[in-house]
Amino acid sequence: MDSHSPTLLKVENLSKKFLIKKSIFKKEYFKAVDDVSFSVNHNQVMGIVGESGSGKSTIGRLVLKLIEKDEGKIIFEGKDIYKMSGDEEKFFRKETSVIFQDPRTSLNPRFKVYQIVEEPLVVHSYPKEERKKKVIEAVKDAGLDSSFLDRYPSELSGGQRQRVAIARAIVLQPKLIIADEPTSALDVSVQLQIIKLIKKLKEEKNISFLFISHDLNVVGMLSDRILVLYRGKIMEKGDAKNILKNPLHPYTKILLESLPPDHPGRRKDLTAIPEIYREEIEGGCVFYSRCPVAMQECKKEPEYRIIDNREVYCHFA
Ligand SMILES: Nc1ncnc2c1ncn2[C@@H]1O[C@H](COP(=O)(O)OP(=O)(O)O)[C@@H](O)[C@H]1O
Ligand SMILES: [Mg+2]
Repeated sequence: MDSHSPTLLKVENLSKKFLIKKSIFKKEYFKAVDDVSFSVNHNQVMGIVGESGSGKSTIGRLVLKLIEKDEGKIIFEGKDIYKMSGDEEKFFRKETSVIFQDPRTSLNPRFKVYQIVEEPLVVHSYPKEERKKKVIEAVKDAGLDSSFLDRYPSELSGGQRQRVAIARAIVLQPKLIIADEPTSALDVSVQLQIIKLIKKLKEEKNISFLFISHDLNVVGMLSDRILVLYRGKIMEKGDAKNILKNPLHPYTKILLESLPPDHPGRRKDLTAIPEIYREEIEGGCVFYSRCPVAMQECKKEPEYRIIDNREVYCHFA
């Protein structure tokens, strides 16, 4: 393991398809993740944004090794996660954790907050006294006082429940947390509190995040880098400020267009964009049918181009 490398996670040419139809004649697959590459440094938030069904959660599940990949590599701290077993795998599980969208379903309703946060420590065989110390610390770091330890999830508000989920996710002091739409079920004011908390954890606890959301506004608030996904493919990838200030891919421009009117990243020169422009084509740019500026050339698949310090999947960006 190279502890001096700034790279924590490296995803290379990752692809995943799901079987959607199977008859005796033919199997049909759906490409949920298509040749995706990115890396996340220590102490960094990588935002993954794209509309529903674009493959965001599938990337998260692949990185957590909850499902099998089809192609590509996922390297965590210099090691291929799909080649890990035994102690290595156990260590990987300890170094990674997850926060889901809806804390109502992700927290066990029969457990009190204490037990919910303690569970990962039990799984990893921490002694009782150490567990207690770590639970109290994690709950505090998640912004809840110790009076919550004795309560059930049903007695908490949505924001408080998400803080419990965060306490559980940080209790083993992981290096990487996959946050899959962690604010999408919350009111806007509570969303902001959770975003602030994630920023604080990044800075103070040296945790990196893969922050997944359909909302570019939310992603823009806390990401250092952004990856824009459309139908399992990366449309644009690079420095967050750069992308928000000067989006290059037509799809990123559309996402920015849907931001609130007072958002600094909003493009005022774009008018409302219809859903579908033209018929789908096989083998061309995946965004062809919905692209407001597609041309003849776009019937051919674009290559990734490096423009302004970014990778962009577009012939014309
Ligand atoms: N286990 C599965 N079996 C079949 N299709 C799946 C499975 N998981 C996800 N998909 C499909 O893959 C696509 C991407 O899903 P997902 O990664 O959940 O998207 P997102 O999180 O961006 O909304 C969707 O079309 C979804 O229906
Ligand atoms: Mg999802």
